[in-house]
Amino acid sequence: MKIVSTAAELAAQTSRWSRVAFVPTMGNLHEGHLSLMRQARAHGDCVVASIFVNRLQFGPNEDFDRYPRTMESDCTGLERAGVDLLFAPTEQEMYPVPQLYRVQPPPLGSELEGTFRPGFFDGVCTVVLKLFNLVQPQVAVFGKKDRQQLKIVRGMVQQFNLPIEIVAAETVRADDGLALSSRNGYLTPEERAEAPRLHRVLRGIADAIASGRRDYANLESDGRAELARHGWKPDYVVVRHGLGLRIPHPEAFDHPNLLIVLGAAKLGATRLIDNVDVVPGHARD
Ligand code: PAF
Repeated sequence: MKIVSTAAELAAQTSRWSRVAFVPTMGNLHEGHLSLMRQARAHGDCVVASIFVNRLQFGPNEDFDRYPRTMESDCTGLERAGVDLLFAPTEQEMYPVPQLYRVQPPPLGSELEGTFRPGFFDGVCTVVLKLFNLVQPQVAVFGKKDRQQLKIVRGMVQQFNLPIEIVAAETVRADDGLALSSRNGYLTPEERAEAPRLHRVLRGIADAIASGRRDYANLESDGRAELARHGWKPDYVVVRHGLGLRIPHPEAFDHPNLLIVLGAAKLGATRLIDNVDVVPGHARD
């Protein structure tokens, strides 16, 4: 695997390939990231990964400074996953001057994650657009664990006519159901034992909908209450339509098979997010 850190080196490398499949990351890679890399392999003759901890998407009280930088082990994992090229720019390379031009996310960017992390999707879209322009991929792979991010990036690609196919990859879970995430590393052993509850609560709501429940608001508040009873501080537990993540109409045309249940909650100092499809694979990505 070749490692480059400047835009010029990157351009010299990617121009040699006809179909570049790209996976952007912030490093601290786990099996979930590596599965994105392996899926990318099926979509291109060159797989490019990036590692860049993007200051723009962190709020002032978030974990930018303590976000783990694990370059050596990340490179070992990327090599193993068959990545051809790693772009690991410095902050100076990505933001040589303050980034005054930003992508304004759609209204969905101010809901759910956007409510609790103001400016998050502005930072994500801005860096993803810059990375797309630098890497110039034909395909980019994003995980479904960050479902709202996936939808917003897909919408940005459509509305700015970027010639990039966005591939959605399934969430990789530990045996007990916990979605793999770089932030799981912050959990104490006791919190790690408790953490799969988030997935269980979301799956429970999804299964209740699949069995005919349509009182989404009750299911949502019961889900939040169950998390709170076990020491979590829930930000949201919601049922949304797979298309555009809008609020579904229980009595109208929204087929329950197309719904997604999303949740975010703090366990101790660690904020975890997850989501499940009511019928796995049915909801739009
Ligand atoms: O999902 C992430 O790791 C980040 O939001 C991304 C897409 C790499 C942008 O910094």
